[in-house]
Amino acid sequence: MAKKIVIASGKGGVGKSSLTVGLCRALHARGRRVLAVDCDLGLRSLDLLFSAGGALVYDWGDVLRGACAPESACIDAGGVSLLAAPLRESAEFTAPRMREMIAEYDAAYDYILIDAPAGVVGEFSLAAAAADSALIVATADGVCLRSAGRAAGTLRELGVSDRRLVLNRFHRAAAENSFLVNIDESIDRVGVQLIGVVPEDPEVTFRLPKGDPLPKKSPAQAAWRRIAGRIEGENIPLSFKKL
Ligand SMILES: Nc1ncnc2c1ncn2[C@@H]1O[C@H](COP(=O)(O)OP(=O)(O)OP(=O)(O)O)[C@@H](O)[C@H]1O
Ligand SMILES: [Mg+2]
Repeated sequence: MAKKIVIASGKGGVGKSSLTVGLCRALHARGRRVLAVDCDLGLRSLDLLFSAGGALVYDWGDVLRGACAPESACIDAGGVSLLAAPLRESAEFTAPRMREMIAEYDAAYDYILIDAPAGVVGEFSLAAAAADSALIVATADGVCLRSAGRAAGTLRELGVSDRRLVLNRFHRAAAENSFLVNIDESIDRVGVQLIGVVPEDPEVTFRLPKGDPLPKKSPAQAAWRRIAGRIEGENIPLSFKKL
């Protein structure tokens, strides 16, 4: 049975999709069978970030309607399987049907990572419907941390009690100069345990949206790998030296 993780944030543009791609690749590199599900209805991005859009024919709306078999809707994204989001909303997309649809992939994968849309209402509950745990992504600023706290609360109400925080685009000097909220205070504001800190990394900003691979020394990539190890239950100490 696959572990199903929703990547959520509340506020938009904080790095959910980038983290989804990074973690999927890191888990795949560990030999795991990984399915990435884009749940950003109408605003999908994973096909571009994985540089796999050319092969797209179906999306999960087709699977949910029974218009295609579950596996035929998935495309190969460098060893990771990708299930794209529909381009339009539909009244047929309900939380119970989403749960059933994702359950069809349970046996074929070790991990199913679900990239949530921004916000904590509407389609957010579709993304959370099938998840058994959540990663809440936040940048260390007041607006984002408050919305991450709301996302954490909404996820708990939706029955996702296993939640962890990922602080993204962190910059230690900025936190030391009070331009960013420090790590302890960020954890307190969101109210869930930290699973990792991903540094600000221009390689993510400039290469990932083009679908280009990140260089071996990318600090964000190293952080994604450590988070993947922790997801797998390894005891990898949190280190803030290279932030
Ligand atoms: N660690 C990082 N370092 C530098 N830039 C980053 C990092 N993480 C994400 N970014 C950049 O932040 C921007 C937003 O990232 P992304 O699209 O992953 O956010 P999102 O939360 O999925 O957005 P949306 O809410 O619109 O779906 C992108 O330009 C991305 O390249
Ligand atoms: Mg996104």
